[in-house]
Amino acid sequence: MNATKILGTGSYVPDNIVHNKTFEKMVETSDEWIQTRTGIKSRHITLEENTSDLAYEAAKKAMASAKTNASEIDLIIVATVTGDYFFPGVAQLLQRRLKCRNIPAFDINAACTGFVYALEIADKMMKNDGYKKALIIGAETLSKFTDFEDRNTCVLFADAAGAMILGRSEQPGIEDVILHSEGDLEGLLRMESYPLKKDFKTIENKRPFISMNGRDVFRFATTVLPSVIRELLEKTHSTIEDLDLIIAHQANKRIIDKAARSLEFPRERMYLNIESFGNTSAASVPLAIDEAIKSGRLKKGMRFACAAFGAGLTWGGAIIQY
Ligand code: ACO
Repeated sequence: MNATKILGTGSYVPDNIVHNKTFEKMVETSDEWIQTRTGIKSRHITLEENTSDLAYEAAKKAMASAKTNASEIDLIIVATVTGDYFFPGVAQLLQRRLKCRNIPAFDINAACTGFVYALEIADKMMKNDGYKKALIIGAETLSKFTDFEDRNTCVLFADAAGAMILGRSEQPGIEDVILHSEGDLEGLLRMESYPLKKDFKTIENKRPFISMNGRDVFRFATTVLPSVIRELLEKTHSTIEDLDLIIAHQANKRIIDKAARSLEFPRERMYLNIESFGNTSAASVPLAIDEAIKSGRLKKGMRFACAAFGAGLTWGGAIIQY
């Protein structure tokens, strides 16, 4: 069998915890509204560490859990929309800090679906091109681009990193990955860049921020989350009963509840950690996978699905045997 298997995982969040009450003093909101409408109670927001710092800490933990040293890694892919720099990528910063050798290392941008895109790219590069051990990461410092005067977004987003070491195996691992993107919906969720200037010499001070049509993204998410799981089940000739756990992007507890109802899947087998972390974009799925493993919810031999959706709009999922 030519399979790609999870050899180890790790995650990291900054120490600084921000509770809902903090936002009551900043915008017109309440702890009660945030908890009932999103499921979030608190989140981690970075004060000093940048995306590559979070990614580095998560990567070290994943390497330790996979008993893998830097010289063995032959591919690094980082899913992020909040790199330390526009260039170089977070992947290169990590490569330097981990002291990896000359190998392919690159960032990808598929917003909250980024980690699922990274899984597919790594899986196919390993199966087709012979790479043996890949480090894939979802890492974000969304707080850099959050408008803390906009109550529609500031209570949702947060910072984290999740990492995974993938290796070649004779045992079943990643069974299938499905990716989607619908560019017609790109205007629903954006992180602005610096605006074009009429006079190229002018230096503008406008900061780029995240903007979102929450209601439409919510509607979209509750449709595509169950639909991509159904697609995966069909492609792998399995049924929903064959899944031990579903790990979905943690954007809103109500989206996860609705997906469970739509799939007729036991709610307690839909992983949920949004309460303590908020929406950490590309970090959300690998952070949840790592937590599920460390807490014993995801055990060796179990079969789980992960799925995500986000700006683009993009969405996708995977079925994996751990
Ligand atoms: N506190 C109090 N009221 C608020 C807040 C807040 N923090 N935020 C919005 N409201 C208000 C709105 O202004 C609106 O008021 P109005 O009726 O006077 O206009 C009211 O609450 C209801 O607004 P809705 O948008 O309908 O609120 P909803 O219950 O849908 O919750 C939310 C909003 C949480 C944003 C929800 O729509 C959601 O989770 N959407 C999906 C977001 C998402 O999944 N993003 C994923 C991708 S992230 C990425 O790719 C980086």
